[in-house]
Amino acid sequence: MGKHMGIPPKNIILFEHRPTFKAIYGLNLSLYLGVNVFSAATLKEALEIVKKHPIDFIFIDNSAYSQDTAKKCFFSLDAINKQIQMFIIGPTDLNEEKFHIFDQNTGIRTILQTIAKYLNVTAKDMAELELDAHYAIPLEFVVPGWICPRSIFKRQKDVFEEVLLPDTVVTEEFIDSLINADIEYLYIRSHERLQFVNSLTLQISSLLKDQNLSTEDRIDLTATAHQIVMEQARTLGISESTINLATECIASMNLLVHEIKDLENLLANFLKDNHTYMYKHCFLTNYIGLHLIKKMSWSSKEQQDKFSFICFFHDISLKKDEYVKIHTNLELEALDAPEQDKKLIQNHALVSAKIISAFPKIPFGVDTIIKQHHGSKSGEGLNKIYKDLSPLAVVFILAEEWARLSFESLETEKVLNKAKIVQQLHQKYNTQVFHKILPHLNDLDI
Ligand SMILES: [Fe+2]
Ligand SMILES: [Fe+2]
Repeated sequence: MGKHMGIPPKNIILFEHRPTFKAIYGLNLSLYLGVNVFSAATLKEALEIVKKHPIDFIFIDNSAYSQDTAKKCFFSLDAINKQIQMFIIGPTDLNEEKFHIFDQNTGIRTILQTIAKYLNVTAKDMAELELDAHYAIPLEFVVPGWICPRSIFKRQKDVFEEVLLPDTVVTEEFIDSLINADIEYLYIRSHERLQFVNSLTLQISSLLKDQNLSTEDRIDLTATAHQIVMEQARTLGISESTINLATECIASMNLLVHEIKDLENLLANFLKDNHTYMYKHCFLTNYIGLHLIKKMSWSSKEQQDKFSFICFFHDISLKKDEYVKIHTNLELEALDAPEQDKKLIQNHALVSAKIISAFPKIPFGVDTIIKQHHGSKSGEGLNKIYKDLSPLAVVFILAEEWARLSFESLETEKVLNKAKIVQQLHQKYNTQVFHKILPHLNDLDI
């Protein structure tokens, strides 16, 4: 919980019943504003909290509820004579002059800035935030050859034992011994977490910049960097160093797009089983999409960079490879997963766009295209194709489907060559919005 500069932290209620949104909002509010977050899924829970704790404000995404819950909340509080400030996203009948009301499409960054202003919180306060004494990092992110910047601990029950001293090199042997002992997480001191992550990120970044890396090593290193970015974005939240690593990683992926001359070679030799499907499908979608964009009259470096950014981040809200593979409502219905995970898959385009909009310095408009990456305008649902999709979203949908068909054919050993895939894409996307871009699929240089 947040504590800064000797001032007692503010208490807030995060009024949210969807687990993923709760995590995104909660993480951002506590990490960036240093507030104590109490979460409530229902009005009853919120009122219970109000009775027990002094609350400085309530944060509610009204679009998560079928009724005007913010309004109901206000009247319930008024009835017990409590006036609490509210920050409300989405439609409400409440008076705009009295409350902070944001349009449903407002990015979380803007919302955080507004709240920070209201709380008088500065960037310096944020740097002095305190968390639990130890902070977990997945073992898979500890890379051999990497110089450990701070002490690393392993946990046995509640005891933390130092296993690596600062400035020692992480060896393959060390990692293997932990894997053999079934250890999945290592720990660092929480107050060192930012320096730690920055140091790791810098080391990976500088490795990615090495021009002499072999294609194979570059693919592996890019896969690790991709995973680090995904995990950091979900757990540590949004930092400039995360975005820098993502930028290096995207540049490295794009170098590979030029280096690997044909698709068959890429599939046969480079995208291997030990990589996550999440990474492989990002990589291949980017490969195909960039070749397609180059055939367009509107192609430019800016559009290509935007496209790569979208490929990299579009499924960031999905945790499991199994979920990344779901691409129709039918598959979703058949999936054996908790109801809340299914809901998230259904709306993952919207949730990804929300996560991305909290990043500092994102290319203009990428959140809108991420929202459209399954064809719907609102980012909800998997099957609908909206008729005014942005051209980059159209390219994305075609490239991702091509990638999906490629992996499917590898898995099932049903032979699908380039010509057959293109033919299937023509049949599947035979609507107006695809007409301008579809013909170019026939003459890609891959
Ligand atoms: Fe995807
Ligand atoms: Fe997706």
